[in-house]
Amino acid sequence: MRIFGKAGKAAAVTAIAALALTGCGRDSGTTDGATESGFAQDSLIGVALPQKTSENWVLAEKLFNDGLTEAGFKADVQFANGGVSEQQNQISAMVTKGAKVIIVGAIDGAQLGTQLKQAKDSGATVIAYDRLLLNTENVDYYVAYDNFKVGELQGQALLEGLAKKKPSGPYNIELFAGSPDDANAKVFFDGAMSILKPKIDDGTLKVVSGQTNFEQAVTQGWKAENAQRRADTLLSGSYGTEALDGVLSPNDTLARAVLTSVKAAGKPLPVVTGQDSEVESVKSILAGEQYSTINKDTRALVEHAITMAKGLQAGEELEVNDTKSYNNGVKTVPAYLLEPVIVTSENVKTAYKEDPVLGPLTQ
Ligand code: BGC
Repeated sequence: MRIFGKAGKAAAVTAIAALALTGCGRDSGTTDGATESGFAQDSLIGVALPQKTSENWVLAEKLFNDGLTEAGFKADVQFANGGVSEQQNQISAMVTKGAKVIIVGAIDGAQLGTQLKQAKDSGATVIAYDRLLLNTENVDYYVAYDNFKVGELQGQALLEGLAKKKPSGPYNIELFAGSPDDANAKVFFDGAMSILKPKIDDGTLKVVSGQTNFEQAVTQGWKAENAQRRADTLLSGSYGTEALDGVLSPNDTLARAVLTSVKAAGKPLPVVTGQDSEVESVKSILAGEQYSTINKDTRALVEHAITMAKGLQAGEELEVNDTKSYNNGVKTVPAYLLEPVIVTSENVKTAYKEDPVLGPLTQ
């Protein structure tokens, strides 16, 4: 299933008639301050977050709590560190408590069908946050950074980093992907491979292990130890005398795991990509170790999700900027996509100027 194709990326700025889709007019006429077609100002907004697999999720929790409360809503923000069934229970509980909007960062976007149906049947609006919700009618919107673009930027950064290292190939590389239950993982990989595959095919890049498929490259649960173990195995199995020049890593946590493995093997550090602008990885870029990361400012993403909740509360039509790319297997989900930014040592000082944590660190 193609959930995000380059061909469908034409960004049509379109206002979608949200109300017809969301059923959020059910509260009209109440005496508790609801507008004609929205819902009461102090309604409950549920936010179901996945596991704490990267810093962005931890930051999102705080930002959602603060931002929703500041907007006058009641916030119910939950992590599901126990896994999919915990997240299913949390969403059901949000429905029972009468949440008007449920924002979901899924652990496994294909396992929430029953709970999302409950949510829609109750009249709530469902927004997929960062990760698409798959194989369900019952998702109204998607808000995320452009995931395919993230992968393209990672692929380009890897090529640039390799060219800086030595002027011509062939370059020995290995490919890492994220967790297969996260809908984003394949999209990141496909985006990167759209750049790297032609170079593999023409011999510029050599995947010495031969592991070029997504299924071979995945990292269950986005766990550092799983990536580190695979890197250890690849290094001992395929890099006896060969040098490892570069590694496609889908995020910072896994990038650091790969670098740890290479250091333990006593090999020269390869060019390694990343994503998320995690503090330790930004420090690593400043120290000349990790090659790149991606800036997907969590504050902007959460802020937009809250703007959507406010719009629904007011009974407004929501703005989306992509109505073609995110087919979830059942429907094409209207999306609001933000632009990811590549960060290397070249722009690390300017990229985080406005960031309260990374700004001071990089100046
Ligand atoms: C997010 C990434 C993150 C990964 C692991 C993905 O769905 O888009 O930013 O690195 O999850 O937490």
